[in-house]
Amino acid sequence: MRERGLTALTKKLHLKTYGCQMNVYDSARMADVLAPLGYALTDVADEADLVILNTCHIREKAGEKVYSELGRLRPLKVQRRAEGGDLLLAVAGCVAQAEGAEVVRRAPHVDIVVGPQSYHQLPELIARATRAAAPGGPAPGRGIVATDFPVESKFDSLPQQSEPQDVSVFLAVQEGCDKFCTFCVVPYTRGAEYSRPAADILAEARRLVTLGAREITLLGQNVNAWHGAGGSGGEWGLGRLIRALAEVDGLRRIRYTTSHPRDMDDDLIAAHADVPQLMPFLHLPVQSGSDRLLARMNRRHTADDYRRIVDRLRATRPDIALSSDFIVGYPGESDADFAQTMDLIAATGFAQAFSFKYSPRPGTPAASEPVQVDEAVKAGRLAALQDLLRTQQDAFNRATVGRRVPVLFEKRGRHPGQLVGRTPWLQSVHVDGAERLIGCELAVDIEAAGTNSLAGRIVTGETTGLGAVAMGAAGMGAAA
Ligand code: SAH
Ligand code: SF4
Ligand code: F3S
Repeated sequence: MRERGLTALTKKLHLKTYGCQMNVYDSARMADVLAPLGYALTDVADEADLVILNTCHIREKAGEKVYSELGRLRPLKVQRRAEGGDLLLAVAGCVAQAEGAEVVRRAPHVDIVVGPQSYHQLPELIARATRAAAPGGPAPGRGIVATDFPVESKFDSLPQQSEPQDVSVFLAVQEGCDKFCTFCVVPYTRGAEYSRPAADILAEARRLVTLGAREITLLGQNVNAWHGAGGSGGEWGLGRLIRALAEVDGLRRIRYTTSHPRDMDDDLIAAHADVPQLMPFLHLPVQSGSDRLLARMNRRHTADDYRRIVDRLRATRPDIALSSDFIVGYPGESDADFAQTMDLIAATGFAQAFSFKYSPRPGTPAASEPVQVDEAVKAGRLAALQDLLRTQQDAFNRATVGRRVPVLFEKRGRHPGQLVGRTPWLQSVHVDGAERLIGCELAVDIEAAGTNSLAGRIVTGETTGLGAVAMGAAGMGAAA
C-alpha cells in the first residue's frame, strides 16, 4: 500500500535535449524547477507523465528532428488518454521560441510550447495544461504557448541546484546575442545579450563544487561578451570573473565556451597565462577564412584578425589547443573563398572542430541571398574540409602518446573497471581504474590515440613530470 501511495506521488519526467551546451544546462535547470512538483527523471519516454523536448533551431535538420520525435510520441499520448491517464508534451528551446504557435498547428497534441527565457514559468504552465486536459480533454491545437520574452530573468527565478552534480558541469553566465551574423537564428531565439551578475555566478559555482563538481565550463552564446559589476564596484569582463572563480576552493578546472573573436580582450588572453585552473583549450569559431565572406556574414573581423588572436593566445599560453566552427557553402561562396578557409585551417592547426553545410534559416538575411550554393558543391567542400580537420585532430592526439598528462576522471567507462576522464586539452581518456577515483585528477601515461579518444595508464606513486597544480590536485584526489 505504502509503495502504491509513493508511486502515485512521484511523476516521471523524460527530457530530451538537442543542440548546444546551453540547452544541456537549461534541461538540468528544468529538472530542478520540476523536482519540487514531484517529477523524477526517467530515461524511458514510455513511462513518463511529462515529456519535454528541448529543441534546437540552428540548422534545418535540427528543427525537423523535433517534428519526427513528436510524431513518434503521438500514439503514446493517444494510448494514455484512452486508458484514462495522460502524457503531457512540452516543446522547449529554440524551435519553441522561433515557431511558437506554429508548433501546435503542426503537432496539435503538444500541450506546452515554452521559450528558453520562460523555464521558471513551467510549474504554472503545467498546472494550466493539466486543467485544460481534464475531463473530455482539450480540442486539438489548444496547446499553451509561452514565448514572450519575460521582463524578469529566469536565472533569478529558478531554484538553486541541490542534487549531487557531475564532476564536469556547465554554468550559464551569459545568454543571447546582439551580433546578428547573417546566417544565424540565435539572436532571435535567445533574445538580446544578457550577463548574469558576478555574485550570482560565484555563488552558483561554490554550490556546484559543494555538490561534487570539480570542473566548470562557463557558458554563453557569446560567453566572452560577459560583463558585470565586480565586487569593488568596477566593471568586470570574463577574464576577471575567471580569476575570481579560481579562488573557489575545490574547483580544479575552468573552461568557457562559446567565444566570439571580437570579444577576446587583453585581460581574457592574459588569464590563460595567469590562472592555472583555466584549461589550455579554446573553442573560437571563425566560420570562414575569406574576408569577403566574413564581411558578408557580418562577423566584423577578418581572417588576419583571427590569426593575430591565435598568435597572441599561443604567445601567452604555448600549449593552448584550439577548436573552431566552420560553415561551408555560405551564399556566394566561391572556390577561391573556400580555398582561403582551407588555408586558414592549414596554417592554424586545430585540435578539434565542428563544421557544417550552410543551412538557410527562416527570417535570417542570408536565407534570401539570391546566389545559394549547390548542395553537391557544399557536400564536396564539407568532405574536403572535414578530411583536413580530421588529419589535424589525429595528429594532435597522436602527439599526446608517450606523454604524461593530468586527467580529471569524470565517469565509469563502458567496460567494467574502466574510467573515462579528460586531459586539459579536452581529449577523452580511457584507463583502468577504481570508481572511487571519479572526481580525482591524476597523472596518466598516454599509450594510444584514436581520432576521438586516448587510452592510457594511471601513474601510481609518481610525483614528477607535472605542474604543481596538477600534482597538488592528484595528491588530494588520491587521498580522498
Ligand atoms: N555564438 C557562436 C556560435 C553559435 S551557433 C559564434 O558566434 O561563433 C554554433 C555554430 O553553428 C556556429 O558557429 C555556426 O558555425 C553554425 N551555424 C549557425 N547558423 C548556421 C546555419 N544557418 N547553417 C549552418 N551552420 C550554422
Ligand atoms: Fe549566431 Fe553570430 Fe551570435 Fe554566434 S555571434 S550566436 S553565430 S549571431
Ligand atoms: Fe541550437 Fe538554440 Fe543552441 S538554436 S545551438 S539550441 S542556442
